[in-house]
Order: sequence, then structure tokens, then C-alpha cells
Amino acid sequence: MKLYHNPASPYTRKVMLFAHETGLVDGIELLPIMVWQETDRIREANPLGKIPALVTDDGTVLYDSTVICAYLDSLHDGPKMIPDGDARWPVETLHALAQGMTDAALTLRADVMRGRDKDPDDYANRMRETVQKAVGEAERRLSEIEGAVNLGTCALAAGLAYVDFRFPDLNWRDGHPGIAAWYAAFSERPSMRATPPE
Ligand code: BEZ
Repeated sequence: MKLYHNPASPYTRKVMLFAHETGLVDGIELLPIMVWQETDRIREANPLGKIPALVTDDGTVLYDSTVICAYLDSLHDGPKMIPDGDARWPVETLHALAQGMTDAALTLRADVMRGRDKDPDDYANRMRETVQKAVGEAERRLSEIEGAVNLGTCALAAGLAYVDFRFPDLNWRDGHPGIAAWYAAFSERPSMRATPPE
């Protein structure tokens, strides 16, 4: 398998965390790409021009990160990162929460890339509030997050790391001691240590 990859991308990191945690990472070759500069190249794989995109061993291209994670989960015999039955829905909902937070941070990042971040408008302020509200909800869901390694917690860790990386001024830890402590512990996992954003 080959993965279009950039270490700064939080969605690529989610997939990489998933690949490490499921023991599949050694079967994935990374194809480094700068999405903002190499749009035509990524569009050959994913017409949406986004990473991550995974090329399977038979040449099929899979996107987005959620589809790739579901595919990877079908390839291993260990505990499923996307559980079956009733246990699935809290994991999927946490995943959606983390995705929404990450989308908000990426919207703010797009403003930076277009030089529109100097005078934040109402929408940008709304995105900043979305990050805070998402962390607040994660704090309320702490009991289902602590000790869990699944699609939702991988997405949350990747998203929080991205906020730290690009928007440390958001100070997401303030008022959220439980998630701050959870994230500090999760960050020590080999999967996290092997995939720093840069
Ligand atoms: C970033 O540099 O923030 C970034 C790079 C690739 C995808 C998304 C974000």
C-alpha cells in the first residue's frame, strides 16, 4: 500500500496512528506530498486534491481518512478500532466530534495560507469557538475516552496535536484538565511519538 502523506496533515496523522495501532504501518509506503504546491499530483489520485489518499496493493485509490481507516480495520485480526454493535456509535460520534474540531482548525489554517488571518471575521471566530466547544464536549465524554484506543481517540489526538501545532494561542487545555491529562498520556504512545507534525 502507498499513502500520500504530509506530516503536518492531521487527517494523514489519524491514518498513521491507526496504522501503527493496528500493526499495519510496515506495509505502507509513504508518498510525501505538499498539497498546496502539488495540487495536480494529488488530484491524479484524489480529484478533491486532498490528503490522505491510499493506493491499495491492487491499485485502487481510497479516500478520505475515514474510508482509509475502515479499510485498514478490515485488514487485521486484532481488536477492532471501529467496534461492531452498540459499541460502535460512541466511537463514531467521538470521531465526528474530533473531525469537526479538526475541520474548524483547518479552516483557520486556510485563512493563514491565504493571508486572511490578520483581521479575523465572524466566521473565523466561530471556528475558534468550535474548537473550544469540541474540547469541552470531549471533557464531558472523558469516561469513554480514557483508556480507549480506537478511531475516535486517534482522531481526537491527531486533531488536538494539530491545534497545538498551528494554533497554540487557542490554549485548548484551559478549563479542560481531564482531556489535557488524557492527551499527555496518549502522546506517549509509540504511534504518537513516531508521527510528529512538522
Ligand atoms: C498544514 O501545514 O497545516 C497542513 C498541511 C497539509 C494538510 C493540512 C494541513
